[in-house]
Amino acid sequence: MNNQSIIDGLLNDSAFISPKYFYDAVGSRLFELITMMPEYYPTRSEQSVMSAHREAIARALGSVDTLIDLGAGNCHKAGELFSSVQPKNYLAIDISGDFLESALVQMRKAYPDIDMRALSADLTQTITLPEAMRNDRKICFYPGSSIGNFDPDQAVGLLKKFKALADNSIAPQQSNPASAKRGGLLIGVDLVKDDKILHAAYNDELGITAAFNRNMLTHINSLISSDFNLSDWGHDAFFNQALSRIEMHLYARRDLVVTWPGGERHFKSGESIHTENSYKYQIETFMEMLSEAGFSEAEYWTDSQKWFAVFFARI
Ligand code: AVJ
Repeated sequence: MNNQSIIDGLLNDSAFISPKYFYDAVGSRLFELITMMPEYYPTRSEQSVMSAHREAIARALGSVDTLIDLGAGNCHKAGELFSSVQPKNYLAIDISGDFLESALVQMRKAYPDIDMRALSADLTQTITLPEAMRNDRKICFYPGSSIGNFDPDQAVGLLKKFKALADNSIAPQQSNPASAKRGGLLIGVDLVKDDKILHAAYNDELGITAAFNRNMLTHINSLISSDFNLSDWGHDAFFNQALSRIEMHLYARRDLVVTWPGGERHFKSGESIHTENSYKYQIETFMEMLSEAGFSEAEYWTDSQKWFAVFFARI
C-alpha cells in the first residue's frame, strides 16, 4: 500500500516524505496562498511569460483537440490558455480530487463550450486516458515548474510518459500521415537565479510556506494515524548549490519520538524530515532533457528577468 511508503520514508536514516503529501484540502489552499506571496516569484514570472507570448505560444501549439492538464489545481492556468488555444476538450488531472472537482464546477460555467473531465491521479502512477481521446491531437500542459519536484533522472522518465500521453501516432485508427496529429508538451520550468531570491521565495515573511510545509504532518497523521505534534516541528528551506535545488525540510525542535500503529521513529533535536526538492534548471540543461525524453524539437520563451521559462516540445 501507499501508506507503507510513508512509513518507509520515516524509517529511512535520512527521513523523508514525498511532496505529494502536501496537497490535502488545506495544503492545496495554502499553496494557492503561497502563489500570492510577494516573495514567491514563480507563479507571477510564468504568468508574465504566458501573457507576453500568448500568441506565439498558441501558434506553436497549433490546433488542439484535447488539452491535458497535469497537476491542474484550481485550473486557473489552463483557463488563461483557453481563449488563444481553444481546445475542444479539457482533461484536468490532479492529486487532490475534491479540490479539482470543485474547481471544475466553476470552469464548466465559465467555458460551457469546452468538454471537461476531471481525473484524480498521481502522475507517477499509470494514467489511462478516456478511449474517446485516443485519436485526438493532444497537448500536455505541465505548468508551475512542478517538474522541479523530481530528480533529473526521474524527470526525464516523466517527460517520456507525457510524450506517450500526447502521442497518438500508435493508435490503430490513425489514417493520417504519422506526424499529422502529433501533439506536444507545454511545460513551465523555474530557472537558476540569485540565491537570495530563491531563498526568499521559500521562506516568505508571513510564514505561509512554513505553514504549508508543517501542514504535511497533519495530513500524514490522518493517513497513517501517527502522532506528529506540529509545535515540535520547524520549517527550513535552502538552496543546495551543488544539486541546483531548493530543499524543504521539517526539523525537530527537541528530541522526540513519533509513533504510529506498529512503529515509531526517534528524532534528535535538529534532525530533519526532507519534504521536497525543487530543482532549478539552466535552459540548455532542460533542452537536453527534452531531447533525451524523445521530443523531436523544442522552443521556449522567458520573462524579461530570465527567471522562468516555458517550453513547447514537439513529439
Ligand atoms: C508546486 C512544486 C512548483 O516547488 O515551488 C512552493 C511547491 N513548495 N513552495 C515549488 C512549493 C514550496 C512548488 N511546486
